[in-house]
Amino acid sequence: MIEPLTPESLARASTFSKPNEVYELYARLRRDAPVAKAEPRGYRPFWVMTRHDDIMAIERDPATYAAGDRTVLLPEKVEAIYEAKYGDRNGVKPLTHMDGPYHRAHRGVTMDWFGPKNLRKFEPQIAAIAKEFVDRMEDLGAACDFSADIAYWFPLRVVMTLMGVPKEDEAQVLRLTQRLFSPADKDLKTQDGEKSASAHDGVRDVFAEFGDYYRALTEDRRKSPKDDIISTIANGVVNGCPMAEREMTSYYVIASTAGHDTTAASIGGGLLGLLQFPDQLEMLRADLGLLNSAAEEFVRWTAPVKHFMRTPQQDVTWHGTTIAAGEAIMLCYASACRDESVFPDGNQFRIDRKSNPAHLAFGYGPHFCLGKFLATMEIRAFYAELLPRLKHVELAGEPTYIESTFVSGLKSLPIRFSF
Ligand code: HEM
Repeated sequence: MIEPLTPESLARASTFSKPNEVYELYARLRRDAPVAKAEPRGYRPFWVMTRHDDIMAIERDPATYAAGDRTVLLPEKVEAIYEAKYGDRNGVKPLTHMDGPYHRAHRGVTMDWFGPKNLRKFEPQIAAIAKEFVDRMEDLGAACDFSADIAYWFPLRVVMTLMGVPKEDEAQVLRLTQRLFSPADKDLKTQDGEKSASAHDGVRDVFAEFGDYYRALTEDRRKSPKDDIISTIANGVVNGCPMAEREMTSYYVIASTAGHDTTAASIGGGLLGLLQFPDQLEMLRADLGLLNSAAEEFVRWTAPVKHFMRTPQQDVTWHGTTIAAGEAIMLCYASACRDESVFPDGNQFRIDRKSNPAHLAFGYGPHFCLGKFLATMEIRAFYAELLPRLKHVELAGEPTYIESTFVSGLKSLPIRFSF
């Protein structure tokens, strides 16, 4: 008999290779144990919260719930390595790991750059990249692995282009990203077919390598700034001073990685949704004006970021259970995205959901995803190019999922198609 999942299962990367079982666990927890304790071996204990409204309330109260104490779930062994190396169990210091005015000041460095007004300038460039990847799909003939061959690479090219990373360095940055986000998944391949590194390698020096990589580009953009993300970060001023080295490297890391696996998962997951709900595919083909709400639904339905954590600064009580100050809470965004109290038909894929009420796949509150506009813009651009050209598409095999407790989505989506 297969053992049902428990809160402890959320600390096992392999759990996420079977998303339906995870959604069943989330539904059970929402119903019976909205505040559940998890004590997995090899991890400090943590609380698991799964209800939409609870997660939103926690995110809305950053003074009580700090993001920076314990931001994502890491094995104790990894935390110990980070502590020894950086004096902080969290390791790096990107926006997601900051709090209060310090966070606001750093977020301010790129906030306008990621805003709709600035990003609209890049719409033609993103549309051209979408065309390049749909052309690549057409060149592959009648079948491909949509996730591994197409969806994975398109957002990478977009982010790298907007960052200002030279094309020939993309594979290197991708390898670093994979080691950061999915170190447990040994199957992931780079574009040149090389296996991604082991978890141990990932911990040992991935940040140092990111730092080394971006150092030269920082120098370059300080001398001759361009209209790209690297220039914005390299010349960013926080409280009147240039950013500290660790914060700057962390900023590069989050800007170049946060929008990659996540957007790829949403583009791949969106196609799977359209294949599993063919009426939705027909509806979208008939009216590309639905792409705005469809892009939101792709992200809600896929919810690639499985969690972030928050740490109460004082004792708090939820549903009769007291969580002591300093004990971390895992916010399960993917659960919130299917919470029946907000989405009565949450397991249905519906591209015309009117308001998609605060679906939480992009988080909420002061840390709300900075790249939300970019991500949805990319999804729209890709499907606006693909759908008018695609005559037929069907599943050609079993989809598989990336094994990661943090960012997980489709690893493989075999399809047959004609243009
Ligand atoms: C579908 C794609 C994406 C999803 C599902 C996603 C999801 C998230 C989530 C859940 C958070 C944390 C929010 C919170 O703590 O409340 C976040 C933060 C962030 N995301 Fe995204 N993201 C996506 C795409 C992007 C893109 C394209 C970029 C930029 C290139 C980006 C950059 C960031 C940054 C910089 C933060 C940190 C914001 C802060 O802490 O102030 N994301 N994202």
